[in-house]
Amino acid sequence: MTFDLARVLEERRGENFQLHMEYMNPQLARVLKTLGFDRFYERGEGAYLYDDRGDRYLDLLSGFGVFALGRSHPVIKKALHDAIDADLPNLVQIDCALLPGVLAEALVNRSHKGIERVFFCNSGAEAIEAAIKFARQSTHRSRILYCDHAYHGLTNGALSLNGGDDFRKGFGPLLPRTDRIPFGDIGALRRALAGRDVAAFVAEPIQGKGVYLAPEGYWAQAQALCREQGTLFVMDEVQTGLGRTGKFFCHEHWGLEPDIITVSKALSGGYIPVGAMLTSDKIFSSVYASMEKALKHSTTFGRNQLAMVAGLATLQTFDDEDIIDRARRTGEAFEKGLAPLLERHEVLHEVRGKGLMIGLVFGEPTSRGARLRWRAMESVRTALFSQTVVVPLFHRHRILTQVAADNVNIIKLLPPLICGQEEVDYFVDALDDVLTRAESGTGHLVEFGRTMAKGALRRTPGAAADAPVAVPAP
Ligand SMILES: Cc1ncc(COP(=O)(O)O)c(C=O)c1O
Repeated sequence: MTFDLARVLEERRGENFQLHMEYMNPQLARVLKTLGFDRFYERGEGAYLYDDRGDRYLDLLSGFGVFALGRSHPVIKKALHDAIDADLPNLVQIDCALLPGVLAEALVNRSHKGIERVFFCNSGAEAIEAAIKFARQSTHRSRILYCDHAYHGLTNGALSLNGGDDFRKGFGPLLPRTDRIPFGDIGALRRALAGRDVAAFVAEPIQGKGVYLAPEGYWAQAQALCREQGTLFVMDEVQTGLGRTGKFFCHEHWGLEPDIITVSKALSGGYIPVGAMLTSDKIFSSVYASMEKALKHSTTFGRNQLAMVAGLATLQTFDDEDIIDRARRTGEAFEKGLAPLLERHEVLHEVRGKGLMIGLVFGEPTSRGARLRWRAMESVRTALFSQTVVVPLFHRHRILTQVAADNVNIIKLLPPLICGQEEVDYFVDALDDVLTRAESGTGHLVEFGRTMAKGALRRTPGAAADAPVAVPAP
């Protein structure tokens, strides 16, 4: 019997959570069931997901930033069909194929003038691993600086640059000579660089875990300090790159010229994993220093033609559909739409970010009744409030969002860049409704508790609800 995808999908329909419980990560399945996020999504199109009940969900996570162009974009689909139908000679390896060269050229052309070469890999973490190796090789130094709250992926090198202890715990010893400094603190950076032994300062231009922005003027000073001390300035644009913040690279907002840039996520068109490290000829040549060293750093699937096609089709579509400016405009529409909610809801303290990377920051209200309710909730579990917003946004309004990091009352929105006013209005009204209910008494918490109890029953008939759980942040 030949493989028939339609038959597998039909015959195994709805078994997804059971299979994950049995063969994969049962804890993730349990968390999602408990919160009632256990759906069988059948289709994705644009900014929306559709489940087997025919319900439509507005996806404001976009696969953690992968679906810049939304799901199932017709241009990307056609490009990938064309690539398969063309029987491209993929992964010959002892070859210099055309399409990786074309994509490398396109990325170099969209970067500042100091970027001349590209190394392709398969993920954001792998791009960071490359950055660490190239920085050490080219500077002949070993120390790497990273920031509090940083997230650069979870492979060993990338994990060594993770600014949160929970991810690291139990996996040590991690890479030696990796040092954490406070984010946005120029004095701390100056002191850390003073010994002239730092190979690279690796940072996200806007931190994904919490949507933290550095103080005005910080980045220009940070770059200048790195240059003075012979340290490479590495901008991790895995999440912020490719239009997410209203510029092709986020660092363009401050006119920066990093020595190394990492990208991934959106370059995939949402289909084929890809990562890339962009840098200068000088840094590149320090690793590929001779013909004997032509493969000193490589990975089998790095120049996968399907990934290259997805990347090229994505970049072309960015231009054809004016995606970057749309992201900027829709970001402004979110800001405008959410502004009245800041006035109306005491718990909403701040809306921050750039373009379509948006952080909604919640905090203790000032009025007495609301403050007592807030404290009661937070005494059950730190940052429970944001979870009690994410859950009804999903259940009552069918909007997918996520808490930005563990133990913070911050919700992060990463909408597809193709979103427009319709999605902005829908989200703003939904958030207004959820926050109004949250402030109007205990009903909000009761509704959350009911969802949890139902989830516990779905997980194990007869079970009691657990202590509130959180959807783990990526
Ligand atoms: C800034 C940043 N760097 C690196 C990574 C790791 O990417 P990946 O999950 O593809 O390894 C992420 C993932 O979220 C990220 O946001």
